[in-house]
Amino acid sequence: MSLPKYFQGITDKALLDSLQQKLDEVEKRIQTATRHTEEVVDVMSSHLAKAGGKRLRPALLLLTAHLGDPSKQDVLDAAVVMEVTHLATLYHDDVMDQAETRRGVPAAQKIWGNNLAILTGDLLFARASNIVSNLGERALKMQAQVFEQLVLGQLHESIGAANQDSLDHYLDVIRDKTGSLIALSAQLGALLSEADEKYQAPLQKYGEIMGIAFQLSDDLIDIRSTTEESGKEAGTDILAGVPTLPAILLAKHSDPESVQLLERIKNAKPENIQEVLQALRAHPVMAEAEEFANQWGDKAISAIDSLPAGSVKSALESFARAMVNRKG
Ligand code: IPE
Ligand code: IPE
Ligand code: MG
Ligand code: MG
Repeated sequence: MSLPKYFQGITDKALLDSLQQKLDEVEKRIQTATRHTEEVVDVMSSHLAKAGGKRLRPALLLLTAHLGDPSKQDVLDAAVVMEVTHLATLYHDDVMDQAETRRGVPAAQKIWGNNLAILTGDLLFARASNIVSNLGERALKMQAQVFEQLVLGQLHESIGAANQDSLDHYLDVIRDKTGSLIALSAQLGALLSEADEKYQAPLQKYGEIMGIAFQLSDDLIDIRSTTEESGKEAGTDILAGVPTLPAILLAKHSDPESVQLLERIKNAKPENIQEVLQALRAHPVMAEAEEFANQWGDKAISAIDSLPAGSVKSALESFARAMVNRKG
């Protein structure tokens, strides 16, 4: 794997070389962990791992592991667990969102149907559980708790805001569905490299807040990125009826143009999604949402104030910025 874009701000050559070498090893293990001896199963279980992806969760785990001893074998396996868990959620998420494309290839259910895509996601969760069961009781417990939090995030997104304020509900949902696993990645790197215990809480916070910023940015990507940039189809959230920040902010605008645009978003169909996206891209809520995402990125950086100054801390800062300012 060539050096991911989000590491390009790192100037410490020794850290970069070590990250690259470990990411390459993790990549081999991810590919192995997603294979199956049965050919019909193998083609489905390896589909998305082969297709690409940023590997940001393993990369973050490897980065925080450099606060301790990154050569501990459990560090590599934990990085694999983060990606395989994430992969499983992608199979399920694409069924729920009826997504067309993922990582530049057809979403699994577009090829094999919902039932097989759901079962393949389950299979990958089982694989991740198997690997994490060898990483000690603390890691196992943390993974189990985060798994529950992540599923609850997806459940609350599907159930909707009910009486809760829509922005508060949305922030809770994205913390749980996305922030939880990114937070665990940051924390497990410190735990399994046997870094100073006191780093774990700020890293967990950093990951959670950065995960929120990351999902805010993902929601903007769903409106304005091309499939070439993101590997996904723009407009998927709107068509799936998922209210994301730009639409939530739009509801606070009472001018007739904004009110009408919100109606068009609510009633969007595949035939008119391109025009709806075009109108939304031109609305001031896009800049408001971008500003909001940047603020969460800054908050993530503040969460690691207490970490010792050095190349890992600087890399975590540039990583958070890269996670907010991206097109895919
Ligand atoms: C997509 O995650 C799902 C979200 C939580 C937004 P990524 O953007 O990390 O997807 P890949 O792994 O790079 O495909
Ligand atoms: C899903 O959020 C987050 C997960 C936990 C899988 P999205 O629905 O926004 O993710 P994408 O845009 O399909 O990757
Ligand atoms: Mg989705
Ligand atoms: Mg999305």
